Order: sequence, then structure tokens, then C-alpha cells
Amino acid sequence: MKILMVCLGNICRSPLAEGILQHKIDKNNLDWEVDSAGTGSWHIGKLPDARSIEVAQKHGIDITKQRARQFSVKDFEDFDLIFVMDSSNYQNVMRLAPNERMKTKVAMIMNMSNPRMNEAVPDPYWDDDGFERVFQMLDEATDSILKKYR
Ligand code: 4NP
Repeated sequence: MKILMVCLGNICRSPLAEGILQHKIDKNNLDWEVDSAGTGSWHIGKLPDARSIEVAQKHGIDITKQRARQFSVKDFEDFDLIFVMDSSNYQNVMRLAPNERMKTKVAMIMNMSNPRMNEAVPDPYWDDDGFERVFQMLDEATDSILKKYR
């Protein structure tokens, strides 16, 4: 199973999603791969946001080896599942899909724990207090991913 986590900048939400799922993959000895990317190009090559690094650290997860990259059309081939954080990410990714089959790989991540609600993981970039909530939401969603696909 190869899973890609996608947000806008690939510095706040998707690095946390990647780090949390990687932690669970390691803990459960699963033969899975996880990566993350952003639909935007502003932060290519950068470390995750310091506030994401901090909240991950607080929960015993190191995300400092990650570097931001931009989502590319090739990711549709390379990954089995593509999880996006909000409806804007969803539209940005879907509009790049080369065919209908690739579109079926894409889902809003919170639909894993709250099916069909299309709930967004809120962008915490402009909100210092948002990071713990984002962590908790992604912890819940990644538990559901594990339950469904392992
Ligand atoms: P992310 O958060 O999509 O969760 O990584 C953002 C980071 C940076 C920007 C927007 C969202 N930005 O506009 O620079």
C-alpha cells in the first residue's frame, strides 16, 4: 500500500499526516509507504512548519527529516491512495487527474473516520492554536485508514 497525504503548502497538515501514519506503520510492522506533497510550490525544499514539528514532537513523532515537495501528475501512478485535507486541495488534485480511474484514488482524509461528511482539516497556518486540533483529527483519520486497509 502506498499512500500520499496532500495539502496546500506541504508544511503544516500533510507533514503531520505523513508523520503520524509513518509512526503507526512502524509500530505495526506494515509493508506500507507514506509520503506527502503540497499542491502549491511556495515551500518546496523547506522543513515542516516549526509548529507542526513541535506538536509532533510532543506526541513522540519526529517529522524533521521531511522536506516539502509539490504534488505532480506522476503521483497518480506512484500511489494507491491520495488523501487531501480540504475541498480546495480536493479540487486542485482532481483537476490534474489524467483519467477517471486515477480520480477514484483521491479522498478527503476525514471521510475515513466520518464517512461522507466532507469535513475539512482546517488550515492552521494563520492560527497558532490550531495545530493540536489538526494533530488529533489526523490521529483519528489515520487510525481509520489502518483499520480499513491493513
Ligand atoms: P498547509 O498550510 O497547506 O497545511 O501546509 C499552509 C502553509 C502555507 C501556506 C498555506 C497553507 N501559504 O499560503 O504559504
